[in-house]
Amino acid sequence: MTTTLITGANKGLGRETARRLLQLGHTVYLGCRDLERGKRAAAELGGVPVTIDVTSDASVTAAAARISEQAGRLDVLINNAAVPGGFLPAAHTTAADMLAVYDTNVAAMSLAAATAAVLLRGRPAVSAASAIPAPATAPPAR
Ligand SMILES: NC(=O)c1ccc[n+]([C@@H]2O[C@H](COP(=O)([O-])OP(=O)(O)OC[C@H]3O[C@@H](n4cnc5c(N)ncnc54)[C@H](OP(=O)(O)O)[C@@H]3O)[C@@H](O)[C@H]2O)c1
Repeated sequence: MTTTLITGANKGLGRETARRLLQLGHTVYLGCRDLERGKRAAAELGGVPVTIDVTSDASVTAAAARISEQAGRLDVLINNAAVPGGFLPAAHTTAADMLAVYDTNVAAMSLAAATAAVLLRGRPAVSAASAIPAPATAPPAR
């Protein structure tokens, strides 16, 4: 039995990945930052909801501890939770906008992977984010 944690599994690509892996027989931990949303997804798909906000050390550590207690290991981490940013034109994008995306999509993903590494013991981790915002408008012609 393959045990898989998907962060941000309550909607979007994470949810669809969960649905497909559950069909293949994985035990799927549905990572969600809002437990109610995770419970709703689990009621529809199956799987085990687990609270995980990837920007919080405490939340990531608690999720890893829960999976460790229940499953004893993790076979696959799908590091999917991310934010797309505001898709603002470059002229309206601030450093704070960029850093908010970086915090979740880079720093937090690294935290989740580092924490899960103890449970994974060399098994695969997949990171899905590629949402670092690009300028939504072309630069002016010269
Ligand atoms: N959609 C695309 O076309 C596309 C293309 C390339 C790559 N990707 C990548 O694929 C992944 C999923 O994309 P998507 O379109 O399915 O995104 P989505 O529909 O916006 O779903 C994102 C998920 O991440 C969760 N999330 C956001 N911040 C979080 C945090 N701090 N801690 C825990 N969970 C958090 C969201 O939870 P809430 O429901 O609580 O907000 C939601 O469950 C992302 O990594 C994205 O960069 C997507």
